[in-house]
Amino acid sequence: MSIKEPSHDFSQLRSRVERRPKHPGLNIIGVSAGYHDSACCLLQDGVLVAAVQEERFSRVKNDKAFPRKAFRYCLEAGGISIADVDSIAYYEDPTQKLGRQLWMGMMPGLPAERRGSIFDRMVKTQPQQVIRRLFGYEGPIEIVDHHLSHAASAYYYSGFDDAAILTVDGVGDWPTTTYGWGKGIDVGRFEQVDFPDSLGFFYSAITGYLGFEVNEGEYKVMGLAPYGEPIYADQIRNLIEVTSEGQYRLNMKYFAFLTEDSMYTEELATLLGKPPREPESEMNQFHMDVAKSVQVVLEEVMLEKARYLHSKVPSENLCMAGGVALNVVANGRCLREGPFKRLFVQPAAGDAGTSLGAAAVAHVRITREAPVKEKMSHVYLGPANTSEDACQILQTSSAKFKDFRGKEDELIRYVVDRLIEGKVIGWSQGRMEFGPRSLGCRSILADPRRPEMRDRINALVKMREAFRPFAPAVLQSKAHEHFDIDHPSPFMLETCQVISPIDLSAITHIDGSARVQTVTRETNPRFAALLEEFDRRTGCPILLNTSFNVRGEPIVCTTVDAIMCFVRSQIDLLVVEDFVLDRAGIPPLWDLQAQQRFEKPGDGEAVGHLVYTLL
Ligand SMILES: [Fe+2]
Repeated sequence: MSIKEPSHDFSQLRSRVERRPKHPGLNIIGVSAGYHDSACCLLQDGVLVAAVQEERFSRVKNDKAFPRKAFRYCLEAGGISIADVDSIAYYEDPTQKLGRQLWMGMMPGLPAERRGSIFDRMVKTQPQQVIRRLFGYEGPIEIVDHHLSHAASAYYYSGFDDAAILTVDGVGDWPTTTYGWGKGIDVGRFEQVDFPDSLGFFYSAITGYLGFEVNEGEYKVMGLAPYGEPIYADQIRNLIEVTSEGQYRLNMKYFAFLTEDSMYTEELATLLGKPPREPESEMNQFHMDVAKSVQVVLEEVMLEKARYLHSKVPSENLCMAGGVALNVVANGRCLREGPFKRLFVQPAAGDAGTSLGAAAVAHVRITREAPVKEKMSHVYLGPANTSEDACQILQTSSAKFKDFRGKEDELIRYVVDRLIEGKVIGWSQGRMEFGPRSLGCRSILADPRRPEMRDRINALVKMREAFRPFAPAVLQSKAHEHFDIDHPSPFMLETCQVISPIDLSAITHIDGSARVQTVTRETNPRFAALLEEFDRRTGCPILLNTSFNVRGEPIVCTTVDAIMCFVRSQIDLLVVEDFVLDRAGIPPLWDLQAQQRFEKPGDGEAVGHLVYTLL
């Protein structure tokens, strides 16, 4: 598999772009869709100018619908129309995927209903037709293999001139794991593991067994693991046989995902000696020990395969993407104990990020040059809400709010006063983050020194499990004084030990670790200013930072989303752009509208709870 496989003759396109005035240049839209977490991005002359997940607009968590609204946003962000789009890069190969669907559809013992739904879906979801019909686009569509999209999403945004590349997910096209390399503008692959053997499904099966939502609750398993002991690791090693070179095999008697709407069989429960946990039921030590055990086995396999990759590609640099690459604990172990000196993980390592990789590959195929090859320094690539819009929404209601337009210093001081008082702040400013993490533009913020904050936010705002830790945002210049970390960590993709002289119990996990975001003025000036003022007043350059949403819903996007989330939750104070609203300022009508809005389902198609959307 190589990047040098264009599916079109680009000579006409190149001459058309060369004749065009410099702006808007070469416009490539990357699309990932139909699986989970659909997204679009826009590359203009190789510069990533916009990227957003469809769920943020549709308000359907992990929306897999074709990303019409995200596509429209990318056009707006680039100041272009559909006529200016030179290429749409699609994130997977429908022919390969069709082969897998046919294989699955012909599986012996498959219930007729499931067989029918596989064949029905094969006809409905041919992406080229859908792109032309939904987007009204008639230009070239560049098809990019799914794991090549993952690999490119890490390598081209890593800043490395060469790297070994490891991609690991549930499944994409046929592969579930790939081993490759990047050098200059080229990305290549030398080995892959194919479906149904999948490290992603291995971890997801235990996620489902532990009563969490598959393809959503995996990070909860990772968060639960430090509370347990790996006493079931030997049993769990029966699920996966690590074979030679890059290969491994799942023991399919424990996995049901090929023929049923479940990830695991009853044999898994027999192996572990207890029935699966019912969702939302009580968590006990057994569940924590199983979580620790699966985490340990995943780390063992990842570490061994990272060593194998280095034996074939002896670079100092490792790039990773794919949903499993969001397991920051396993990544950290690969870096600490493995042979690589540097690691770059694509911040949107799941399928949303494949839109970036597909667009980058299309750019290389068309121009024979790399996209602008700088290390990704931020993910503030989504829509911004203007102060004017926010003002209009607030003024046309009877909300009582404070107006800090033109007085940012005052705004910052006011918010810091409230944080010191122990208030929980909904904070919406600037361009929304791309990927799964809130990084100071759509965040809930609180004082990390207050031990009660963790329980309060868990219970009243997030309505989520009490065991899950919150993450800290820290001024980059002072991160080393409080955390055992000596380099920037702008995307919350690393864990490290808390070494602070301050008691930071609200953001410290039970094993003494924290998943740190380092913040600078260059990438997020207003958030950095808030941290600086909090530091000046308290001597603590750190804030608790969690995503601005309630459980089961996407992170807020618009000012209206932020207001709705604020009204429905127990957040004390809302900051939207230059305006501040407290709970006493909420007009009665908003309360009613918020309830109505959240009772109404979104217009997209939600993903299943029990099994990956394999089709
Ligand atoms: Fe994937």
